[in-house]
Amino acid sequence: MAKVNQNFVKLPANYLFVDIAKKVDAFQKENPDAEVLRLGIGDVTLPLVQPVVDAMVAAAREMGDAKTFRGYGPEAGYPFLREAIARNDYAGLPINADEIFVSDGAKSDTGSIGDIFSIDNTVAVCDPVYPVYVDTNVMAGRAGDYVEGKGFSKILYMPCLEENNFLPQLPQEVPDLIYLCFPNNPSGVSMPKAELQKWVDYANAHGSVILYDAAYEAFIVTPGVPHSIYECEGAEKCAIEFRSFSKTAGFTGTRCAFTVVPKALTVEGVSLNKLWDRRQSTKMNGVSYPIQRAAEAVYTDEGQRLIRQNIAYYQQNARIIMAGLKAAGFTVYGGVDSPYVWLKVPEGMTSWQFFDVLLKECAVVGTPGSGFGLHGEGFFRLTAFNTKENTEKAVERITKRFQ
Ligand code: MLT
Repeated sequence: MAKVNQNFVKLPANYLFVDIAKKVDAFQKENPDAEVLRLGIGDVTLPLVQPVVDAMVAAAREMGDAKTFRGYGPEAGYPFLREAIARNDYAGLPINADEIFVSDGAKSDTGSIGDIFSIDNTVAVCDPVYPVYVDTNVMAGRAGDYVEGKGFSKILYMPCLEENNFLPQLPQEVPDLIYLCFPNNPSGVSMPKAELQKWVDYANAHGSVILYDAAYEAFIVTPGVPHSIYECEGAEKCAIEFRSFSKTAGFTGTRCAFTVVPKALTVEGVSLNKLWDRRQSTKMNGVSYPIQRAAEAVYTDEGQRLIRQNIAYYQQNARIIMAGLKAAGFTVYGGVDSPYVWLKVPEGMTSWQFFDVLLKECAVVGTPGSGFGLHGEGFFRLTAFNTKENTEKAVERITKRFQ
C-alpha cells in the first residue's frame, strides 16, 4: 500500500498566500461591488518593459523557424544569460558565469536547495520569515514536530525584534544552515555590510552555510547596504545567493531567477557547485529560451533605464504608505530599501484581527505578521506593488478607519 510523506501532514493546511487568497475571494463573493485593493502578496503590477518584450517576441520567432529553432537548452542556463548576469551583477566580485544557475524562481531554488544538504543539518531562520524556508524543511523532515506556541522543534528561530531593528542576532547554538533574506521579507529592513560581514565571519568560523536570499536587492537605496553577500570578504567560501528577475524586472508571471553557488564553497570536501549542478540537471531542463532572452534584455541600457523607472514607481508607493500611516499615528518600518512596509497593529488587536478589519471595513488586503512566524505577531505587511492611485486610496481608507 502506498504511503504519503508524513512530513507534509505536519504543515499548516495551506501556504500562507493561498489562505489569504481564499479569504479575499470569499469576501469578494459576498461583496461583489467592493473595490478590493490588494497590498498583500508581493506581486508586481507594472507590465514588462519594452526591450524585454521585444527580446521575448524575437526569440519566440526564432523558435518558429527551422533555421533557428532550439530544443533542450543547457540545464543551468544559456551562456549568454549566465555571462550577462556575471558581467552586470557580479562585476568586481569573485563570481564567474559557471557559478550562476538560471532557474524559474527564487522560490523554487530556496525551496529546493535543501536537497543537497544532509537531513541531519540544523537550520536557523529569522522569525518572522518568508514561509518557504520553514515549510520546505518541514517537507524534507528536517524541522521536527510542531509545538504550539513555539514552532517546529528542530528549527532554530532567530527572533527579529523591534528593539534590534528587526535584525537577527548571531545564534549561541551554532546552526549548520542559516537562511538570511535582505532586504528582508517581510519586515522590509536591510542589513548594513558591516553587520552582514559578521554573519559571513561566523559562518566561516563554524563551518555553517548561509543561504542568502537577495530577491529584493534592486530596491536598495541606502549607501553601505550590500546588493550581494559576495561584497563581504570570504562569502564565496560560505554562502549561496538567490536572486530573481521577479521583483527586479516584473517577471513574477514570466519566471526567471538564478542561484549563485561559488566553486570555492565546499562542505566535507564536496563541491556544492557540483552537487547543485547535478541536482538541477536531474530535476529540471532549464528555463525556456524566449524567457532567458527576455531576461538578458534586462541588462541592456534601455532595459536598465526602464526597470529603474518601474522600481522608482514602487518606491514612491512605499513612501506614500509610510508617510500616510505615520501621519495617522501608526509605527512603520521597512519601505526604504524594500517594497514592503511593516507596521505595528493597533493595541489590543492580533495581526489576523487587523487583517479582518482591513478587509471587511476598508476592502484592503495586507498580510498578517503572524503568518510569517510567532514573532511577526503584532505586525502587518503592506506591499508597494500596486498603482499609485490604488496605493493612495488604500492609505486613505486605512487612515480614515484608524485616525
Ligand atoms: C511575498 O509576498 O512574500 C512574495 O511575493 C512571495 C514570493 O515571492 O514567493
